[in-house]
Amino acid sequence: MAAMPYPVGTVANSEGHLEIAGCDVVDLAERFGTPSYVFSVPEMRNRARAYVDAFSSRTDEFEVLYASKALPVTAAYRLFAEEGLSVDVASGGELTMALAAGYDPSLIYMHGNNKTDAELKLADEAGVGHLILDSFDEIDRCERVLSRRQDVMIRVTPGIEPSTHTYVQTGQLDSKFGFGLEDGSAERAIRRVLASPALNLVGLHFHIGSQIFETEPFRLAVQSLAELQGDWCRMLDVGGGLGISYETEDEPPKIESYVDMKIEAVREFFGREVKILIEPGRSLVGNAGVTIYTVGTIKEIPGIRTYLSVDGGMSENLRPMLYNAKYEAAIANRAGRPAETVTTIAGSHCESGDILVRDVALADPQVGDILITPATGAYGHAMANNYNGMPRPPVIFCEDGEAKVVVRRETWDDLLARDA
Ligand SMILES: Cc1ncc(COP(=O)(O)O)c(C=O)c1O
Repeated sequence: MAAMPYPVGTVANSEGHLEIAGCDVVDLAERFGTPSYVFSVPEMRNRARAYVDAFSSRTDEFEVLYASKALPVTAAYRLFAEEGLSVDVASGGELTMALAAGYDPSLIYMHGNNKTDAELKLADEAGVGHLILDSFDEIDRCERVLSRRQDVMIRVTPGIEPSTHTYVQTGQLDSKFGFGLEDGSAERAIRRVLASPALNLVGLHFHIGSQIFETEPFRLAVQSLAELQGDWCRMLDVGGGLGISYETEDEPPKIESYVDMKIEAVREFFGREVKILIEPGRSLVGNAGVTIYTVGTIKEIPGIRTYLSVDGGMSENLRPMLYNAKYEAAIANRAGRPAETVTTIAGSHCESGDILVRDVALADPQVGDILITPATGAYGHAMANNYNGMPRPPVIFCEDGEAKVVVRRETWDDLLARDA
């Protein structure tokens, strides 16, 4: 069934404004300015609970990890820690934020295909629970840098290519990530780590890609890793990757059926004793977040196209330019009115490719309107940049009609702060 890209409970209020988690989006724009990232806290909590409930109704042997690259914000780490999730960090920076949020280090899993000495030392000093090893050089580096015997897992590229954008496919042999199954390097890595006094091998990991709607590739990946298992294999981390609805017609699998399929596959190919780890990012935060903008100019080119420019673009939502990602949009202050004016939404950057949404029907758009793009909660803030000297937007968490700024807006002065 098609799924709405907005947080559950988004409504048009009596003033004809969109309301998210009880907060009037037009009020938010007045109070906090635009562009801003706005999140529904209940949506994030409900999705975390959907994962935990789906597992706990079937098994005790599981751990849900928040793949924090999707929204690396201290308040989000705190929220998912409160929901009982462990956390996946992919850099020293993400590790720093997880620790600042109060994460129990034993619940932290550290990824990265090129962890530096400094990052490994930080993990070592913090007492990070598990490192996910990605290369032979990293194994050497761990042996040189780590001060204590470290629990580790091995990341394997199982040779599965799901249908998603090639930039977010990560499970194929021809990948910078992990140890290949087909070329025998995964098997060699296992032998190498088992022989290392510095490292304690406890499991295997794979992540075949992101924004995936099919469930079969995940099953095939579990099946292909099964040939590697041994007595040492107490955990299998099946990665993230569950897709979300960016447009109303999208039909991603439900969290429950996706988890069911993973449990089935692990039981079938690894048995009951193996603990299942899962690392959702996008499916926890993507549909919980929207971005709000102010419409600044409308340029009609007769017979060709109408461009509507907003006060953001590729600096706060890079995904359309990076992956040709598609979004919906609406005029938040004219909610519920017929959307009949087809426009192309452009950003404010000095690039013709700075287009957020192509050919979208809006309700009589005017300069000064508040435009909203749903499903921008994952990898929007995370990939934000300062192109054209654009200060990055704030992150606002909404719950029961209360809005809280959890990351403030960058200022023009902030852009000078690192000048030496
Ligand atoms: C190793 C790993 N785990 C988990 C994720 C999260 O994926 P998603 O946001 O698609 O759930 C990623 C995303 O790139 C990843 O690289």
